Amino acid sequence: MQLTLNGEPNPRQREFFLSRARHTAYGGARGGGKSWAMRRKLVLLAANYDGLNILLLRRTLPELRENHILPLLKELYGFADYNATEHVFDFPNGSRIKLGYCDSLADVYQYQGQEYAVIGMEEATHFTEEQQQFLATCNRTAVPGFSPRMYYTCNPGNVGHAWVKRLFIDRQFREDEDPDDYAFIPARVWDNKVLLTADPGYVKQLMALPEELRRAHLDGDWDVHAGQYFREFSRQRHVVAPYAIPDYYRRFRSMDWGYNDPCCVLWHAVDPEGRVVTYRELYVRETRPDEVARMVKDMTGDEQIAYTVASPDLWQNRGAMLAAKGGFEGETLAELFMKSGLGMIPADSSRVAGWQRVRDYLAPQADGEPRWKCFSDCANLIRTLPALQYDERNREDAADGEDHAPEALRYGLMSRPHAAKAKDERSMRAFDPLGMRPQRRDGYMSI
Ligand SMILES: Nc1ncnc2c1ncn2[C@@H]1O[C@H](COP(=O)(O)OP(=O)(O)O)[C@@H](O)[C@H]1O
Ligand SMILES: [Mg+2]
Repeated sequence: MQLTLNGEPNPRQREFFLSRARHTAYGGARGGGKSWAMRRKLVLLAANYDGLNILLLRRTLPELRENHILPLLKELYGFADYNATEHVFDFPNGSRIKLGYCDSLADVYQYQGQEYAVIGMEEATHFTEEQQQFLATCNRTAVPGFSPRMYYTCNPGNVGHAWVKRLFIDRQFREDEDPDDYAFIPARVWDNKVLLTADPGYVKQLMALPEELRRAHLDGDWDVHAGQYFREFSRQRHVVAPYAIPDYYRRFRSMDWGYNDPCCVLWHAVDPEGRVVTYRELYVRETRPDEVARMVKDMTGDEQIAYTVASPDLWQNRGAMLAAKGGFEGETLAELFMKSGLGMIPADSSRVAGWQRVRDYLAPQADGEPRWKCFSDCANLIRTLPALQYDERNREDAADGEDHAPEALRYGLMSRPHAAKAKDERSMRAFDPLGMRPQRRDGYMSI
């Protein structure tokens, strides 16, 4: 049976097909023909090389069905067999295209230990950097003469905006990244003559979008970030090179606990004006409470820490789950930490009020300086705070994502006075030189 494919690639799609980079991204505007190109490229590879193992991913199953499974069923009818339970197309030459989705952050780990010569990430900005990095470790092959590669399609915005922009638009590479490995092909709806002819209203629809979405989805502008939760955050304003913190600054810590998800601990110092600087972070995963406690103590050294706040769920009994991780049934995580010498108090975990507190601290004060800054070596906080997205269902809140460092920051700042009230707090403090002032009515201490 011969494979017959309809349609000719447009010039941008042709460029995408011809790219030989290890990582090729095709992106920018909507409607340019990115998904078409991804699908066609993977089919051509599967048909041209024997025994190629290919993975095509999107975030959710409904999107995957609409965008790829249904069109592929049509295109490959009578040529490749489809296994509907596994979502796999088996080609007669032994190649296979597996279609997958990653609804939750941890879903990528189902591919642990698997080998895919080619990985396609559709709407790559819907994936976190951590997911991308993990998937890259599965991008290997034993097929002789074939170099493993990854293809990405993307629109600006969403949780992955920052890493896609860094690698493919800004081309700011880390030491272990080779610039030659990354190629970017811009997409424009005007490249897609098929669509413009079939649906002349499509461009009008894009033009009618609100300003920011229009710039992202019609112009493919990567400098707007539709959906970004903390637009106030700026490297220039909020990130400073590390300096020696004066001894008289009060110091405190905040923690967002996680075992499978990362555990983040932040160290903060407060200057006499009530401004906060986050000067250190610990970001680990799969680390037991006693180990985290030891690391925190080692990193703290002989610094005086006034208190440590942590997510209130540490005081819930997690029972048997803990037993496997070095605790005993019936113990809470807070007790475990306490036993390891790290005493903590529960943070105020109200989300919307907490994010608002972060926003207040990011905002410039009368002198133009924000109330919060962080040291440039808090890499995970700096990476994930601007990546936080609005929750589509509750626009007041941030969506789930890689939010462990922002959550730790939120807990930390919620233990501080409200920015607007900070002046009163300062004057109150003047009358309380011995630190005898009772805790605030809501149970949280102000220092
Ligand atoms: N080269 C092509 N030949 C035929 N149809 C195409 C071609 N490129 C894109 N299309 C069609 O144009 C429409 C938009 O393309 P799509 O790949 O979904 O865009 P994007 O993913 O960039 O938003 C789809 O209906 C798609 O099938
Ligand atoms: Mg698409």
